[in-house]
Amino acid sequence: MAKEQKVTPWEVEGEVDYERLTREFGTSFISEKIKKRIEKLHPLLRREFYFSHRDFDKWLESYDKGKKVSIITGRGPSEKMHVGHLVPFLVAKSLQDEFNCEVFIPISDDEKFYIKENLTFEKALEYSKDNIIDLIALGFKPGKTFIFEDFVYTDIYKFAARIAKRITYSESKAIFGLKPENNIGWGFYPAMQAAHILFPQFMRGSHLSVVPVAIDQDPFIRLTRDVAVHPDFNFMKPCALHSKFLPALTGAVKMSSSEGSQIFLTDSQEEVKRKINKYAFSGGQSTAEEHRRLGGNPDIDVPYQYLKMIFEDDDKKLKNIRDDYKSGKMLTGELKAYTIEKINAFLKEHQKKRELAKKQLEKFLMK
Ligand code: TRP
Repeated sequence: MAKEQKVTPWEVEGEVDYERLTREFGTSFISEKIKKRIEKLHPLLRREFYFSHRDFDKWLESYDKGKKVSIITGRGPSEKMHVGHLVPFLVAKSLQDEFNCEVFIPISDDEKFYIKENLTFEKALEYSKDNIIDLIALGFKPGKTFIFEDFVYTDIYKFAARIAKRITYSESKAIFGLKPENNIGWGFYPAMQAAHILFPQFMRGSHLSVVPVAIDQDPFIRLTRDVAVHPDFNFMKPCALHSKFLPALTGAVKMSSSEGSQIFLTDSQEEVKRKINKYAFSGGQSTAEEHRRLGGNPDIDVPYQYLKMIFEDDDKKLKNIRDDYKSGKMLTGELKAYTIEKINAFLKEHQKKRELAKKQLEKFLMK
């Protein structure tokens, strides 16, 4: 029997039923009207990997009326960054390019320090530094993009404290349920993430911000929307755009740190080739002969999913691949080879940009 679905900010298990999550969390599906506004943006947006939202229609309306809007999304630096970690940031960049607005990127090194039993303080700081280089390398606009680490930009604490004072224990429990609270730091952390999400309004005054995140982070959004309107703040409720989870190479629901699960942004071309060939879950048939006869299933094929969501921007090419794979004209080995080529082209560029990013830290870090 399939494992029961479990989706929390610290655990994702079982077959995920996204429709059911949307109902349970009380979020909205992305409407046809919104789809029209994002149909030229990043594949993650226009190919429906982002499927749900809160008040993103209001965010667009606000923008159309010439009002200030912004984007905020964060990164918990638990390890070196892999392809799955890119998702919200590729979307934030695409939105920044389209709507020319400010982007705020908090790095929650405190969060991962609390949760990960074996992550030392020094290592948390090290991952932060390394992850920030990956984020800058994505090409955000200098002067309009602000990155900060909780452990370094300690000004964030005064906002978190003001928020923490307005969240009761029972409210936090109602939203997060039973958390693995082996220390009191993790109990406080939601106030910190709420401070991140409201940071654009603390800095620039009341306006609409949108948070692109994976759906498991929605409890933080709910908590923040409640506290935003407290008379101490009188802020606007932040909006959200929710994504699905990018599958692990092996086809598991979400990428993790186990070997063979993911592709790191610093992987060599050889490593990418080896991992895709060895681990990538295929929707093809077990022999070439059978595949020619029966065709493959792109919807469960991990290389195809990676192309669709991130690495093949060209809609026509993607459609040809889909058709050829389904009909059996394109073999699994051919699809894998093409995916390896596309991922490697992306990583080669990225790794070059990482070197440049190391000299640009000053332009992006909050002081
Ligand atoms: N908690 C997020 C994660 O584990 C990272 C994060 C920190 C974040 N601050 C945020 C996400 C603010 C969205 C908004 O990945």
